[in-house]
Amino acid sequence: MSEIFDLHLQHGSIKAYPKYKHAHYYLRSVYPMFFEPRRATTAKILEVGVAKGGSLRAMRDYFPNAKLVGIDIENHLEGDLSRITFVQGSQNDVEFMTSVANEHGPFDFIIEDGSHLFDDQLITTQCMLPALKVGGIYFVEDVNPNNEGEKLFEHVKEYYVRWKMNQYSVFFFPWLLAFQRNT
Ligand SMILES: C[S@@+](CC[C@H](N)C(=O)[O-])C[C@H]1O[C@@H](n2cnc3c(N)ncnc32)[C@H](O)[C@@H]1O
Repeated sequence: MSEIFDLHLQHGSIKAYPKYKHAHYYLRSVYPMFFEPRRATTAKILEVGVAKGGSLRAMRDYFPNAKLVGIDIENHLEGDLSRITFVQGSQNDVEFMTSVANEHGPFDFIIEDGSHLFDDQLITTQCMLPALKVGGIYFVEDVNPNNEGEKLFEHVKEYYVRWKMNQYSVFFFPWLLAFQRNT
């Protein structure tokens, strides 16, 4: 079992719903690999697309010293929001995203679980990659065949150089893309 998965289940995160098995895979296999070595030192996490806040509360409980920032186009947050800051706005609004990056960044981890639309994923990635700390990691969830998000895989390969991607390592997992800032 995975403590990260258990916390998501406990807090009612959509990622832990029985029908989203692909997300259980991130929670059980991918996130522990990146999160566990940085559990105590992680100070700031951003999640884009927070719904009722289940995943934010789960990460808050997992990372004892982290402050969490959540973005969503709607506010449906519930429960205990200690160490959590919510900012309402759209992930495809460059001005809004840049202001969040400037005001709340830099981040140890950014998790994008918003609209899952290709154009939005692209804007959000371009705005928020610079808001990572050196060594920080940006995850794009649900890059999957059920929506147009899988285009992002191809786009990243094609634009690797144009995006100066040598500044980042890119990890391709099933339905999940991760960028680690190197410099
Ligand atoms: C899959 S849910 C997030 C689930 C949450 N991370 C969890 O695990 O419990 C997706 C969220 O993205 C939000 N969303 C959709 N379009 C958005 C946009 N353009 N900007 C910001 N948030 C958006 C929705 O309102 C919804 O709350």
